[in-house]
Amino acid sequence: QDYNATIEFYWAPFLAESNSDDAVVHRVTDRIVRGTAIEKHAKFWKGADVVVFNTYLWWMTGQKMKILQNSFEDQNKDIKEMETEDAYGMVLNAVAKWVENNMDPKSSRAFFVTMSPTHTQSKDWGDKSDGNCYNQTNPIKDLSYWGPGTSKGLMRVIGEVFSASKVPVGVVNITQLSEYRKDAHTQIYKKQWNPLTPEQIANPKSYADCTHWCLPGLQDTWNELLYAKLFFP
Ligand SMILES: *[C@@H]1O[C@H](CO)[C@@H](O)[C@H](O)[C@H]1NC(C)=O
Ligand SMILES: *[C@@H]1O[C@H](CO)[C@@H](O)[C@H](O)[C@H]1NC(C)=O
Ligand SMILES: *[C@@H]1O[C@H](CO)[C@@H](O)[C@H](O)[C@H]1NC(C)=O
Repeated sequence: QDYNATIEFYWAPFLAESNSDDAVVHRVTDRIVRGTAIEKHAKFWKGADVVVFNTYLWWMTGQKMKILQNSFEDQNKDIKEMETEDAYGMVLNAVAKWVENNMDPKSSRAFFVTMSPTHTQSKDWGDKSDGNCYNQTNPIKDLSYWGPGTSKGLMRVIGEVFSASKVPVGVVNITQLSEYRKDAHTQIYKKQWNPLTPEQIANPKSYADCTHWCLPGLQDTWNELLYAKLFFP
């Protein structure tokens, strides 16, 4: 209140227009992104003093990305398949261009937060028990640890796009420090959207969430880094 500040969260999992844009009904498996069309969302970002972007996990489909060339209203959808990294780069470039055209670097700031890792298989960190993040209480101590679920290719794209952008976009690089935190996920301690079955209850590992994080927790560290970049550029 002292600063008359407002904070908003805006849902756009691909930043560009997509078939997953509904803030509630978005659990689609066949994801389609409409190329560089970011205006649908970007018009709501206009006028912000600070914008913090991020987009990652939704791109990890394990397949090529489906890019829509025409519009979602068109009967015959013109879909082109693209390598995930190329499609990701295309959208990030559109975001960088939008920042250039719509944000004044003298009075506003833009940031991009890198990928948030997952911990879905304990064998990734050398634990042979066939577990996941469930019941993990310590961070990974190997400083070079990088999980196989985290795309180095997309990280490279982030570096390339934002180091070349005309208006500075600060990269808040939270990936490596978050890789260590196999102990920081919500595990079983979260709201369950569907009632648990007796089989699940008997085997907590089976429904442990190893993607999202507890609060307070790791994300407070991300915020410290953002704070440092914001006030001590
Ligand atoms: C607070 O911000 C709003 C929106 O930008 C603006 O309309 C209003 O005049 C501001 N109030 C003060 C006291 O600065
Ligand atoms: C959780 O981990 C502790 C310590 O490694 C172990 O003793 C315990 O059996 C584990 N609990 C479950 C339910 O797996
Ligand atoms: C983020 O940090 C990791 C680990 O230190 C590094 O490998 C990567 O190049 C960095 N990425 C960017 C875009 O700065």
